[in-house]
Amino acid sequence: MTNEPTLTLLTGATGTLGRTLRPRLQDAGHDVRAASRSPPAEGGAPNPEWIELDLVDGTGLRSAVEDADVVVHAATAPRGDSEAVDVRGTERLLEAAAAAGVDNFLYVSIVGVDEIPYSYYEHKLAAERAVEGSAVPSTIVRATQFHPFVHDLLDAVSRLPVWPLPTEFRLQPIDVREAADAIVDHATADPSGRVPPVGGPEVRTVGELARTYRDAEGLRRPIVRFPIPGSVAGGFRSGAALCPERTVGTVTWEEWVTAGEAESVRSR
Ligand SMILES: NC(=O)c1ccc[n+]([C@@H]2O[C@H](COP(=O)([O-])OP(=O)(O)OC[C@H]3O[C@@H](n4cnc5c(N)ncnc54)[C@H](OP(=O)(O)O)[C@@H]3O)[C@@H](O)[C@H]2O)c1
Repeated sequence: MTNEPTLTLLTGATGTLGRTLRPRLQDAGHDVRAASRSPPAEGGAPNPEWIELDLVDGTGLRSAVEDADVVVHAATAPRGDSEAVDVRGTERLLEAAAAAGVDNFLYVSIVGVDEIPYSYYEHKLAAERAVEGSAVPSTIVRATQFHPFVHDLLDAVSRLPVWPLPTEFRLQPIDVREAADAIVDHATADPSGRVPPVGGPEVRTVGELARTYRDAEGLRRPIVRFPIPGSVAGGFRSGAALCPERTVGTVTWEEWVTAGEAESVRSR
């Protein structure tokens, strides 16, 4: 047996999760090849461990997977063309990973993608299926919403005199550092298939999350229920985005906002 470090391609390396995963993978002994379309903001110095990869047009694909033992696939386009990036891009990456003989393709997904018919979630589900149907050995980890996602949702209404929100939606936000720790545990050369999901410590309604955020920000805006009809909203209300039996994270939303972590999101 050799003791060579694991060479790991990390896609989405500049994203919320990718930026958090990268140092953790390195601490766990991985040689990390970080990939995204634009280089990470690291003081302008060229980064020899970063590679340009565009999952839509295939730029950099072959060099990204070359000699990689593990792929941690965290690239996504929730606000862009998720069919092109998350579905077709994942298929393209899987094909390249299969040709390169990757040992474990770890795909990061979201709790509830199989139950909530939101188009981004449908694309995540299609990507999960592509991963499972591929010749590459794989691991799929689903997580609940990261704190910065909830922050962005509330920040979007924060300047309005009244905050119209789907107050009955239920979420289980998780600290992205704790989600990353759990994901790194599965980024070994041994694929594990579908593993138990990773959720935050508490289930809270959007109304409760908004009140905590408003109080932490010292604001006084009224929060009003914005009724959203349909099955997507029904899924978020009924708890399809939750995994209360898997409270892996310990940092609550209240702890996160009161610790000033929202500031770090604002300044990124
Ligand atoms: N955010 C959440 O609350 C949450 C919760 C559970 C699971 N997840 C999952 O966790 C993973 C990471 O999410 P995130 O929130 O960290 O995403 P994010 O912050 O939106 O980052 C997306 C990353 O993908 C890259 N990317 C976008 N388009 C690309 C393309 N065409 N080719 C190559 N790279 C591309 C982006 O870099 P460039 O733009 O420079 O290419 C960026 O590095 C995703 O699979 C997501 O579904 C997220």
